Amino acid sequence: MRTAAAIPVARRVSGFTYAIRNIVAEAKKVEAAGKTVRYLNIGDPVTFGFQTPPHMIEAVERAMRDGHNGYAPSVGILPAREAVAAELSARGMPVTPDRVVITAGTSEGIELALTALAEKGDSVLVPVPTYPLYTAVLAKIGARAVFYRTDPANGWLPDLDDVTRLMAPDVRALVVIDPNNPTGATYPADVRKALIELADRHNVPLLADEVYGDLAYDGPVPPMASLYPDAPIISFSSLSKAYLAPGWRTGWMAIARTDRLDEVLAGVKKLADGRLCSNGPMEHAIPAALNGDRSHETSFRAALRERADLTVARLNAIEGVHTVAPAAAFYAMPRVALPAGVTDEDYVLSLLRATGVLCVYGSGFGTKPEDGFFRVVFLANPAELSSIYDLIAGFTRDFLAERSRSNDR
Ligand SMILES: Cc1ncc(COP(=O)(O)O)c(C=O)c1O
Repeated sequence: MRTAAAIPVARRVSGFTYAIRNIVAEAKKVEAAGKTVRYLNIGDPVTFGFQTPPHMIEAVERAMRDGHNGYAPSVGILPAREAVAAELSARGMPVTPDRVVITAGTSEGIELALTALAEKGDSVLVPVPTYPLYTAVLAKIGARAVFYRTDPANGWLPDLDDVTRLMAPDVRALVVIDPNNPTGATYPADVRKALIELADRHNVPLLADEVYGDLAYDGPVPPMASLYPDAPIISFSSLSKAYLAPGWRTGWMAIARTDRLDEVLAGVKKLADGRLCSNGPMEHAIPAALNGDRSHETSFRAALRERADLTVARLNAIEGVHTVAPAAAFYAMPRVALPAGVTDEDYVLSLLRATGVLCVYGSGFGTKPEDGFFRVVFLANPAELSSIYDLIAGFTRDFLAERSRSNDR
């Protein structure tokens, strides 16, 4: 056969990065060299032993046995949309089932919404640090992520002046992740209100990523749209986190009742037709999850709070490291004071090679490499976490001493 040149991929692929997954290639090399890797890179509670509630599994099993194995409606089955609408309405976002679309995780909902909203070259306001899905999807559709600051010195709350300053005429959406990944922050009502008022005033949809809404340690936080039900807000969530079924790829989006969003709703539905449907049998778990027993959430939140407390105590005891205490979810975003010329990626990869502990460097979430942020997923059990923090502490002490010495030379 004729040997020909490599077949090129589209340019957009080079703009599509996903540090959380990309870094695994480095971890595999370390594993191949014989070291045990402790994967703290991905927020999957199931890999750390938290179990999907059995009644959800039964609902999917039953659906399959009852023959629900064909294509579902592209917007999702009615009982699932009814359950989401009832849940959000009960929490203060009045919405009808016809404004709910069932999606393959929050991820697909976000992709559908951004695709429906942003033209090539348009801007979308995204927090920094961000969950990398946003920059990845925007790279794919050729739109621009414009970062607004969230401030570690102020509990990682959004810098409202920065958001105001960036609200230009070509902005097509404002992304708000509350509770937040990667920082674990939750936003007080006044900050939420200010963000909604800004979006409302500029007639820009606020994309409310609420996938951790049930995982605030003090109890579920209300959907953002409950503050202003007539503002242009789209709420996204899924069964991945609070319902412990990330592999099912099952989520939803709900488009607030304002008629300003009617065209967006129609656009999203049109795009949803193109992928036929989300994962049919799993949709049957949505009513089971939202209307059924949720006692697992209470114990999950307690487990998360315990791990968060341990994480904060242990990381803040390391000289040169500081983390803001998370209030939700299973992430912390500590900062290590790096000597000049050293990047967050140097630190994280050296940590991996020396100890087998895999975190993700902050620049994978959009922070500056020299700022020294990295993200820790603290889902492991407390004893395991404690031994991981021993490793991080020992490594960091040696790394900072060694790098400072080589800077002095
Ligand atoms: C903030 C945020 N949004 C969306 C997602 C994607 O979630 P899903 O599994 O529902 O697609 C994640 C997953 O980690 C996340 O952290």
